[in-house]
Amino acid sequence: MPTDPFEAVAAVEAVDLDGLSQYPGEMDLLSPLTLRCGLTLKNRLALAPLTNGQSADDGALLPEEVRWLVRRARGGFGLVETCAAFVSWQGKAFDGQLSLAAMDDDADRDRQRAALTALATAIADAGAGGIVQLVHGGARSPTRLTGLQPVAPSVFHEDSPSFEVPRALSGGEVEAVAASFVDAAVRAQQAGFAGVELHAAHGYLLGQFLSRTLNTRDDQWGGSFDNRVRLLTHIARGVRAACGDGFAIGVRLSPEDRGFAKGLDIDESVETACRVQDDVDFVHISLWDASKNSVKHPAQHPARLFRHALPADVAVVAAGGIWTHADASALVERGADIVSVGRAAIVDPDWPTHVILEGKAPIRGPRTAEALQAVAVSEGFVQYLQRFPGLVTP
Ligand SMILES: Cc1cc2nc3c(=O)[nH]c(=O)nc-3n(C[C@H](O)[C@H](O)[C@H](O)COP(=O)(O)O)c2cc1C
Repeated sequence: MPTDPFEAVAAVEAVDLDGLSQYPGEMDLLSPLTLRCGLTLKNRLALAPLTNGQSADDGALLPEEVRWLVRRARGGFGLVETCAAFVSWQGKAFDGQLSLAAMDDDADRDRQRAALTALATAIADAGAGGIVQLVHGGARSPTRLTGLQPVAPSVFHEDSPSFEVPRALSGGEVEAVAASFVDAAVRAQQAGFAGVELHAAHGYLLGQFLSRTLNTRDDQWGGSFDNRVRLLTHIARGVRAACGDGFAIGVRLSPEDRGFAKGLDIDESVETACRVQDDVDFVHISLWDASKNSVKHPAQHPARLFRHALPADVAVVAAGGIWTHADASALVERGADIVSVGRAAIVDPDWPTHVILEGKAPIRGPRTAEALQAVAVSEGFVQYLQRFPGLVTP
């Protein structure tokens, strides 16, 4: 197995993508889309951000991660998102998580820059727009990984054995968090990525700030909706100022409560998207089950609500349980401009070609560890996937 990311890029099996332009029948899903920043995506199919444990303990990019992403780019996805990458050591949330944070050691920094550049180049060469998802885990960055007490907008408690009570960030620290997102975005741009996505979904730090229940601060960063949305708008504006108009910026939101994403209201979430609309190219809504309407507005689909509220040149990306061609088409009909795919792309890297282009039934799990490794899912990622039902043969 190659140990160098450049070799890993070369080692990824080439997949013939010429067929993608030969089927003009599927205009909606296979037609190109130009984002406001000028980036043209060859189709409306995105690889969702997927945490996978394929980086080194210090966050260094490894060949396994390159192989995983480039294989999906070659499989036909027009947009390819990395796993959630941490913007500062304090915000590291997962074992084997990729780092876009500052590195103290010059040699480490140079190696990471070269590796990220190789990855960005290989994704672009495969014809996809490469996006780095940026995250700070906040209360979900355990001391086990960071050596630090977790931080959050406010002190809060959760009834779970692994939960560590976070401390509230000071006003100065909130500014430092914002700066770490902007610096990480600049690093992604310098490496040649087409853009970044600010991860404000799933209850990580930016989502904690948006929450009515987790953010009870009484300064400019908390309490009222205007204050809770301020950190996200501040970061989006900062990234736009630092990276310019030609760089894609996205924001990922959980529209309503689910799992660790708490204290959300879909009307506020739509308004959050509107508050960042001047600085972003797309809003990515994480639905988990895209066949369902909003809990608060049972007659309305979340994608439609976001599409309706946002200007036409801000794309709505949506994810959640997309396996078949019909699932993807239905989501576009409900208002999404781009359909984002997670689990179906883990088990089949050629999902765009097989399912959308050729109209085949999707390959569904469970698949054996060997079958997954044959499609560039590393051994470590296979182990991680065992916690998600139905993907890996027990
Ligand atoms: C293994 C795994 C890792 C994930 N990691 C992330 C992540 O890093 N960032 C994120 O925003 N969502 C993450 N998600 C959520 C996915 O991006 C996606 O929204 C979700 O899996 C639903 O889409 P799907 O049904 O097509 O898989 C993850 C999901 C899975 C299954």
